[in-house]
Amino acid sequence: MRWHALATLTLLQWATATPSSPSEGLLKKDGVSLGSWQEAYAKASSFVSKLNNSQKLSLITGNNVNNTGGTFEALTFEDGSQGVEYYYYVSAFSQASALAMTWDKDAFYAQAKAVATEHYLKGVHIVNGPTSQPLGRTVWSGRLGETFSPDPYLNGIAFGVSVKAYTDTGVVAGGKHFLLNEQETNRLSASTGGSGGSTSSAAPYSSNADDKALHELYLWPFYDAVKNGMGAVMCAMNEVNNTLSCENSELLLKRLKTELGYPGMVYPDVDAQSTAKGSAINGLDYGSSRIWSDSAVNELLSNGTLTQARLNDMAIRNLMGYYYVHLDNGTHPSVADRDAFVDVRANHSRLIRANGGKSVILLKNTDNALPLKRPHTMSVFGSHARAAIAGPNVEFTVQGSGPTYNGHLATGTGSGEGSMSYLIDPHAALTRKASEDGTMIRWILNDTYSSSATGLPSGIGDAGTFISASYSAYAEYSDVCLVFLNALAGEGADRTELYNDDQDTMVSTVASSCNNTVVIINTVGARLVDQWIENENVTAVLYSSLLGQESGNSIVDILYGDTNPSGRLTYTLAKNESDYPVGICETKQCNFTEGVYIDYRYFDAYNITPRYPFGHGLSYTTFSYSSLSVSSSTLSFLSTYPTGSLSVGGYTDLWDTVTTISATITNTGSVSGAEVAQLYLTYPSSAKQPIKQLRGFERIDLSPGEQKTVSFSLRRRDISYWDVAAQKWAVARGTYIVRVGTSSRDLKLVGSFVV
Ligand SMILES: *[C@@H]1O[C@H](CO)[C@@H](O)[C@H](O)[C@H]1NC(C)=O
Ligand SMILES: *[C@@H]1O[C@H](CO)[C@@H](O)[C@H](O)[C@H]1NC(C)=O
Ligand SMILES: *[C@@H]1O[C@H](CO)[C@@H](O)[C@H](O)[C@H]1NC(C)=O
Ligand SMILES: *[C@@H]1O[C@H](CO)[C@@H](O)[C@H](O)[C@H]1NC(C)=O
Ligand SMILES: *[C@@H]1O[C@H](CO)[C@@H](O)[C@H](O)[C@H]1NC(C)=O
Ligand SMILES: *[C@@H]1O[C@H](CO)[C@@H](O)[C@H](O)[C@H]1NC(C)=O
Ligand SMILES: *[C@@H]1O[C@H](CO)[C@@H](O)[C@H](O)[C@H]1NC(C)=O
Ligand SMILES: *[C@@H]1O[C@H](CO)[C@@H](O)[C@H](O)[C@H]1NC(C)=O
Ligand SMILES: *[C@@H]1O[C@H](CO)[C@@H](O)[C@H](O)[C@H]1NC(C)=O
Ligand SMILES: *[C@@H]1O[C@H](CO)[C@@H](O)[C@H](O)[C@H]1NC(C)=O
Ligand SMILES: *[C@@H]1O[C@H](CO)[C@@H](O)[C@H](O)[C@H]1NC(C)=O
Repeated sequence: MRWHALATLTLLQWATATPSSPSEGLLKKDGVSLGSWQEAYAKASSFVSKLNNSQKLSLITGNNVNNTGGTFEALTFEDGSQGVEYYYYVSAFSQASALAMTWDKDAFYAQAKAVATEHYLKGVHIVNGPTSQPLGRTVWSGRLGETFSPDPYLNGIAFGVSVKAYTDTGVVAGGKHFLLNEQETNRLSASTGGSGGSTSSAAPYSSNADDKALHELYLWPFYDAVKNGMGAVMCAMNEVNNTLSCENSELLLKRLKTELGYPGMVYPDVDAQSTAKGSAINGLDYGSSRIWSDSAVNELLSNGTLTQARLNDMAIRNLMGYYYVHLDNGTHPSVADRDAFVDVRANHSRLIRANGGKSVILLKNTDNALPLKRPHTMSVFGSHARAAIAGPNVEFTVQGSGPTYNGHLATGTGSGEGSMSYLIDPHAALTRKASEDGTMIRWILNDTYSSSATGLPSGIGDAGTFISASYSAYAEYSDVCLVFLNALAGEGADRTELYNDDQDTMVSTVASSCNNTVVIINTVGARLVDQWIENENVTAVLYSSLLGQESGNSIVDILYGDTNPSGRLTYTLAKNESDYPVGICETKQCNFTEGVYIDYRYFDAYNITPRYPFGHGLSYTTFSYSSLSVSSSTLSFLSTYPTGSLSVGGYTDLWDTVTTISATITNTGSVSGAEVAQLYLTYPSSAKQPIKQLRGFERIDLSPGEQKTVSFSLRRRDISYWDVAAQKWAVARGTYIVRVGTSSRDLKLVGSFVV
């Protein structure tokens, strides 16, 4: 669907000066104000001005360009944000979904910086990441392990900070997936549906979201990424409104390149480019030489379908990120062989361990069951406690496997897969701790062990009686029982379950004999706990995503209190899978009829009680909240729509701070810990927004008795909604309510301001 006929007028109003041909989304000196990208534009334009069309074609199809000055090597792209994929001597970091659970902007930055440094030193130019989406329209989506959160604000902050770290390090951030790539099912081709004889369509599913949901949920985090220096965007495999993402002028030209002022290149996910013409004229900048052959492109040029200006623009956009991050400065090494001993890991293992600990969420802790205090006897259950039979540096693939992993699950699959040079599993880390503490450990590292199996070790129970190896016998004679669970899905396949019968039976069996059962879960997405959460013998639950190569150490640091848990849920954990609003779409047409009502926005609107709300997480200490204050409680000066210039990241004044909220947090317990203070905003009813939305969070460390003031800066965009008629972000008139607290359903302080 072309858009320019209907949108030209709007664009003329938007641009600071009139772009001569807005429909092509061209970068121009007099178009979107380029700000700090000005120098990159000058260098890229100058380079491209010396190329003939066949050299430009080489550039945009990923081939070397021979130039009078020598050869310009083709840009190298590599997965991913959890570390350099398919390389030796690199680090395997935690998944984005785990990192987001830290709610720690410094941790986001530090990890992204370390990841980017490893890519840089291996000779990578463009990282296929960070990965903002799938956002999480449906909890069943297979790739949510790779992404931050279904809350667009949290997702956007993590996405933007990560992009900034990549940029600061000198690699180009290739943010993905653009856009509405919310599930794996039918991503290559969809059944056209209809009752009876359904036929298969060669095209993937079409995500049909309305303009409001598009802006307020899915496009939102891309604003943060563009603002922070993203130089490449990966368009997705799916269609949007029945047009492929990579050929979709509404998405690429109107939204990304104009509304967001995006100055970089758009490149396709695997096989996501379909036609030479459709992709070239609708906004794709980098593609396949099979599709953009010399003859195909020359024909488009000669019959006037493709303008010379647009071809130049494609070439320039390919180089914008390259120059912006200074990859031309002579320091960047040439690309390393995958198995060469180019060791880029430095001390990243320490960061991975620390961030892993910060990612662990304490969901439940009855009578301070945790932290552990030198138990005499411990039993450990479940195959997730130990390393898999082979590894660690092997390729995972979920297609045809899952829904659980037979081994310790510490990295993702497909493009979410870390390359591990080693793996610390929980059993190894517990063993080391036991050797220090004098603890005796028994273990059955199997989810379906039956005591009728022979040849397994027996033991001594109370009063010298002999016991055979079984969940219940081991459990009964233990001061603490640790049960390890996981859930696996990833690129290419969606979730098939949100809980697992074998693993849940293991928990219940252990708990029936052990009054101090601690459950540890690492999961790619929501993993329900209602099968046993109210069992009084389940005294504590730790919950996180996949933690990377130091996973066992991170978990043990939490179990023993060397790290005080501060992780928070980045999505809602329901009591029942039927409580979630959206399933996997099985038809060609996927209508996003839920609009913006996903995750807690839905649970709030329909008054559904979750098991654990968005933002929930306990600590080994306690915190109190006091003294909420609002810096400006009357914002009478604010115009409804932004009035700044259209720049990289949209209108400049969308980013202005309009008011600041502060609150005082006190550590009222006896150990040091970190609190994640969260701010939720309720709009005036005229804005037709969800009941409350996250618009600020700060993680702060506090020693016992210590008090700190946290402040949350609300930007114009944070108090705006998408005005569909005006096609602009609008500030509503009326009273905004702000609440600050420790989760989306535990809000301690309230205040307000008036626009
Ligand atoms: C483009 O320039 C290159 C390098 O100077 C040259 O080898 C090639 O023949 C030129 N191609 C065309 C079509 O002019
Ligand atoms: C570029 O030059 C090298 C030699 O310097 C040559 O081997 C290669 O074929 C040339 N590539 C193109 C696309 O002209
Ligand atoms: C080139 O850029 C990288 C990454 O920003 C930086 O580390 C390096 O110091 C720069 N080199 C020079 C010579 O400026
Ligand atoms: C898709 O269609 C809906 C309904 O017409 C419209 O609101 C939305 O803006 C369209 N989105 C895109 C990206 O074309
Ligand atoms: C130009 O050529 C392309 C590719 O063959 C074709 O799709 C398109 O319709 C042509 N346009 C015109 C105006 O002839
Ligand atoms: C890693 O080393 C760098 C200096 O090379 C230091 O600044 C940083 O604090 C260290 N990080 C950790 C987690 O030890
Ligand atoms: C788990 O134990 C059962 C016997 O109780 C056995 O059949 C199964 O193969 C074991 N699984 C693994 C992964 O070892
Ligand atoms: C809890 O554990 C005790 C043994 O310590 C057992 O007697 C009791 O039945 C268990 N309760 C449940 C609900 O499993
Ligand atoms: C758990 O059971 C043990 C005996 O097996 C008992 O000593 C202990 O007090 C019980 N703990 C709780 C919290 O009930
Ligand atoms: C979830 O809800 C379904 C249907 O309402 C019900 O059959 C099922 O037992 C519930 N599951 C749990 C774990 O409560
Ligand atoms: C999606 O929406 C379109 C347009 O409103 C409608 O024609 C179609 O039946 C819907 N498809 C499904 C699967 O609900």
